[in-house]
Amino acid sequence: MISGAELRLSELVKRYGGASAVDRINLDVASGEFLTLLGPSGSGKTTTLSMIAGFTEPSAGRVVCDGQEITSVPPHKRGLGMVFQNYSLFPHLTVRENVEFPLRQRGVAKAKRSEQALQALELVELRERANAKPGQLSGGQQQRVALARALVFEPRLLLMDEPFGALDRALRERLQIELRRLHKELGITVVFVTHDQEEALTLSDRIAVFNEGRIEQVGTPAELYERPETLFVARFIGESNSLQGQVTEERFQSEGGVSIPAPGAVDGPSVAIIRPERLRVLNTRVEAEECALHGRVRDVTFLGAQLRIEIDTPDGIMIVRTGTENPAPQSGDAVQLSWLPGAAAIFPHRKDARETSSSWTETLAPSTSSSQS
Ligand SMILES: Nc1ncnc2c1ncn2[C@@H]1O[C@H](COP(=O)(O)OP(=O)(O)OP(=O)(O)O)[C@@H](O)[C@H]1O
Ligand SMILES: [Mg+2]
Repeated sequence: MISGAELRLSELVKRYGGASAVDRINLDVASGEFLTLLGPSGSGKTTTLSMIAGFTEPSAGRVVCDGQEITSVPPHKRGLGMVFQNYSLFPHLTVRENVEFPLRQRGVAKAKRSEQALQALELVELRERANAKPGQLSGGQQQRVALARALVFEPRLLLMDEPFGALDRALRERLQIELRRLHKELGITVVFVTHDQEEALTLSDRIAVFNEGRIEQVGTPAELYERPETLFVARFIGESNSLQGQVTEERFQSEGGVSIPAPGAVDGPSVAIIRPERLRVLNTRVEAEECALHGRVRDVTFLGAQLRIEIDTPDGIMIVRTGTENPAPQSGDAVQLSWLPGAAAIFPHRKDARETSSSWTETLAPSTSSSQS
């Protein structure tokens, strides 16, 4: 087992011309942690990873690895493993020769190289394909070779930028499981980049959510899901329903006419966020509860143990996730949606989506939903 590197980014900035691709990022990654940079396209994830790797020079700030500043250390002297979206294997070399390549660069003797390469291939379960050429392998197998090549010199820090982005879903899921196993087995620190929230939730110990060159929030998958600090995070992580409206005197009034208590919320344009599993579908004969919204069922989808129900309401389409134990509503049924007052999180709706939540009565999701991780 390797002891993973400890990484610290402090006040990291990258400017291109006048624009900041990365804008004063602070981030600590613990030894052995699997940390994911998650965010939409253009939010600065690759630029951040590239500054950690040493390919991009920061405009300001520092990169510190195990207490030593490495901001100006060239990439090949940082001793990091790297895997990118396009596997970039050498087509004319065999799989084993590809994996040996970093060892050759480091001047490791031939016999030792070969042995270590085969061990690394064993890790990714491709030892028996050592003599094949990359062109004879599937995309997923090629990506595993790239992973073996990144791991062969036992780096203490592994950087991965959308490594499974080019693969189909089934393969992607298989490699995610394999990567989790390897990470546990090896004890190395991983910084992983993706714009796919599901992938981030599956793989990560913690996730840093990027938006426009900044980190909105860092937390475990469960923390981000249950206690998003910003509207952006609430919308980006997991499925959510948004109601547009207005807060006046600690009550939120939606455009469609729903009133929700909003203790502590600041007056002004606001958004209420409710997770799909916090909504209940009731028939219209039941007496309306305090938080209720009338609507009509649009669509019901069976998802194994769960139902996903889409409901047209005056506040737009609302999504409900519920168990299959009750008789399922049918498309076209008139229903009401209800929820407990604390199930909604109210965020001020400003141009600056970084505004933090000002009204919480409890967590967004039920405590039983902390099965992520
Ligand atoms: N070499 C460069 N020159 C100028 N602008 C750049 C350069 N590299 C990145 N940028 C800009 O910096 C911003 C962040 O880019 P970055 O590649 O880090 O985004 P990303 O989060 O990795 O996005 P994606 O998910 O699409 O890969 C973008 O607006 C991009 O256009
Ligand atoms: Mg990128």
